[in-house]
Amino acid sequence: MNVQTKHTADITDAEESLKLQESQQMVVDSTAATEVAMQNTLLTPRFYTTDFDEMDAIDVSPIREEWDQLIAQMVADPNKGHFKKNDDWDTVDWENMDPELKKEFIDFLISSCTAEFSGCVLYKEMKRRGNNKDITQLFQLMARDEARHAGFINDALREAGVAVNLGFLTQKKKYTYFRPKFIYYATYLSEKIGYARYITIFRHLEAHPEHRFHPIFKWFEEWCNDEFSHGEAFALLMKTDPKLTRGINVYWIKFFLTAVYSTMYVRDHQRPAFHKALGVDPDWYAHEVFTKTSKLTEQIFPITLDIEHPRWQRQLEKMQKANADLAVATKEGRFFAKIGAQARAVSAFVALITIPAKKHAVPAVTRLEPAY
Ligand SMILES: [Fe+2]
Ligand SMILES: [Fe+2]
Repeated sequence: MNVQTKHTADITDAEESLKLQESQQMVVDSTAATEVAMQNTLLTPRFYTTDFDEMDAIDVSPIREEWDQLIAQMVADPNKGHFKKNDDWDTVDWENMDPELKKEFIDFLISSCTAEFSGCVLYKEMKRRGNNKDITQLFQLMARDEARHAGFINDALREAGVAVNLGFLTQKKKYTYFRPKFIYYATYLSEKIGYARYITIFRHLEAHPEHRFHPIFKWFEEWCNDEFSHGEAFALLMKTDPKLTRGINVYWIKFFLTAVYSTMYVRDHQRPAFHKALGVDPDWYAHEVFTKTSKLTEQIFPITLDIEHPRWQRQLEKMQKANADLAVATKEGRFFAKIGAQARAVSAFVALITIPAKKHAVPAVTRLEPAY
């Protein structure tokens, strides 16, 4: 038997972690899962690349105090060794799991693993290309965490006989170029919404443990604290240049908020069996997550979306319906039905983004602690 002496949970170097994960893939069939992870649609996690030189030029001295505190917390590495199976890991009965739930849950794990890995790839690339000590140190720490998260999800997937081939993805998945400022908005939001998503599920399952159909949810609290710190880092990076959150850029912020929230809504509604098993109404869940994320993003963004506006829920539902129709039309090869559904999705997005945003003053002190 192949005895693993090291586990991704204990590794601090992202490269080393990925090598280990690749060697583990020999034992399982990773083709199907990797194909899913390779998909590039509006709803699937993407890989990003950017202008690394511009990012390397960031000067953190105006925010030095807040920066050093955050880095010290991350260097202390409170979650080292946490992301691996222990006695709390209950046996999972994959054989007898409801087939619809199994399909949606595996899809959820693959999509989460790809998203974690997407962060890892971007962060380790910044670390590799940069010369700025502050920036490379931060990105090395974040790549460390994301490699552990991806490794842990791959552990869970392997029990079901699947794995995502991370080495293959790194080389073959399409990379989307984003200017650094778009990386900040998109990544900051994905870290903070990731925190809000994981903590909402964690607290719900604390109150209703009978719905915890898989042990991985027990790890969500420490997990989301990592994402929280990553979000803090991006908030501070944006704070170094006040122009990023002023003027025309406020429209970009609104665009990213609307895109990230509506994508999450549509994607979650594609997994009804998964949410039913968790005992979570996806509409309630979306509203909870948007409320928490909006509260958190007030730390740096001068606007939040008005998710209580009467148009908000109605248009999200329209977008979701258009997307479901689009999937059917695409499958059946009906060209005009496809165009019609796309047009309805775009019109719902326009209706969402034109809801007036709520403005507020941004606090002088940015740093927050995870409190949900
Ligand atoms: Fe992560
Ligand atoms: Fe993260």
